[in-house]
Amino acid sequence: MSALHHEPVLLREVLHHLAPQNGEAMLDGTFGGGGYTDAILRAADCTVWAIDRDPAAIERGAALAARYPNRLQLLQGNFGEMVGLLADRGVAALDGIVLDLGVSSFQIDDSQRGFSFRSDGPLDMRMAVSGTTAADLVNTLSESDLADTLYQLGEERLSRRIAKAIVTARKDTPITTTLQLAEIIRRVVPGDRSGIDPATRSFQALRIRVNDELGEIVRGLEAAVQLLAPGGRLVVVSFHSLEDRLVKRFMQDAAGRTPGPSRHDPAGLVDRRAAKFTLLTNRAERPRSEETQANPRARSGRLRALARLPVPLLQEMEIAP
Ligand SMILES: C[S@@+](CC[C@H](N)C(=O)[O-])C[C@H]1O[C@@H](n2cnc3c(N)ncnc32)[C@H](O)[C@@H]1O
Repeated sequence: MSALHHEPVLLREVLHHLAPQNGEAMLDGTFGGGGYTDAILRAADCTVWAIDRDPAAIERGAALAARYPNRLQLLQGNFGEMVGLLADRGVAALDGIVLDLGVSSFQIDDSQRGFSFRSDGPLDMRMAVSGTTAADLVNTLSESDLADTLYQLGEERLSRRIAKAIVTARKDTPITTTLQLAEIIRRVVPGDRSGIDPATRSFQALRIRVNDELGEIVRGLEAAVQLLAPGGRLVVVSFHSLEDRLVKRFMQDAAGRTPGPSRHDPAGLVDRRAAKFTLLTNRAERPRSEETQANPRARSGRLRALARLPVPLLQEMEIAP
């Protein structure tokens, strides 16, 4: 069964930093349920290029594209390939780019996509519906590779114990469904007072590996800064510390804010003067409490934003703290 809705996270803040203006060209690299795209199209008479690797998201977007003739173009593909996807359509520069990382409610709530440990479905987890599935990984990776994946991508402290249980279980019968895997994990990981399901971290790790999500973030950020026109804005919303760490480092580097190599230059001021970008957010912005009350999924959302210099004077005045 599909969810009927994806509630956009940090939408007000995204629009504030993206600040779409009439006549501009924007990119929504993670179209999903189209929540950001719709809001951008309403905010200004601009055009939006919208990418999603999930064919179901692109299909769903047709109705929105019909409401905005000539203003919304939907492209199926990875945002890490945005430069090529747009070059094929003759676009080489953009005024704003937004990435809302991770999976949509449509994907999580559809048990047939295999992202959720709450309802049974095939152990799939492929956003693009092609390539290696989570079941392929769980049934073929060596015990140590599995353990490393759970540790590095899920920050799961009991990774070795879980990997051992998986390898033992799959000797009897292949692990093909989400609940089968969740139960193997729950048997060896004790629940704690947080109420977080013991399978949460392992499912996150497998999902990140199946979709090469960290590789995509690096490729996407590099591509985004290539495409930004002077004054162009990049806004990224992430949902866990592995993602946010990559975004934070990348943006700080681009803005010349990397801590200096020596104690004589602790703020990296030498780099900063040569930087072509400026941070629009000094630290990650978090959702307001009204938002997290209305949408618990927003709780872990973190927004960071950056602009290519020179930022027009008017905008600089608006973003000054
Ligand atoms: C959190 S949802 C976006 C929700 C959207 N902002 C909205 O308001 O409806 C993330 C979407 O990005 C897509 N996605 C994730 N990684 C991607 C990538 N590397 N390239 C293209 N699409 C990606 C997913 O398929 C999913 O539909």
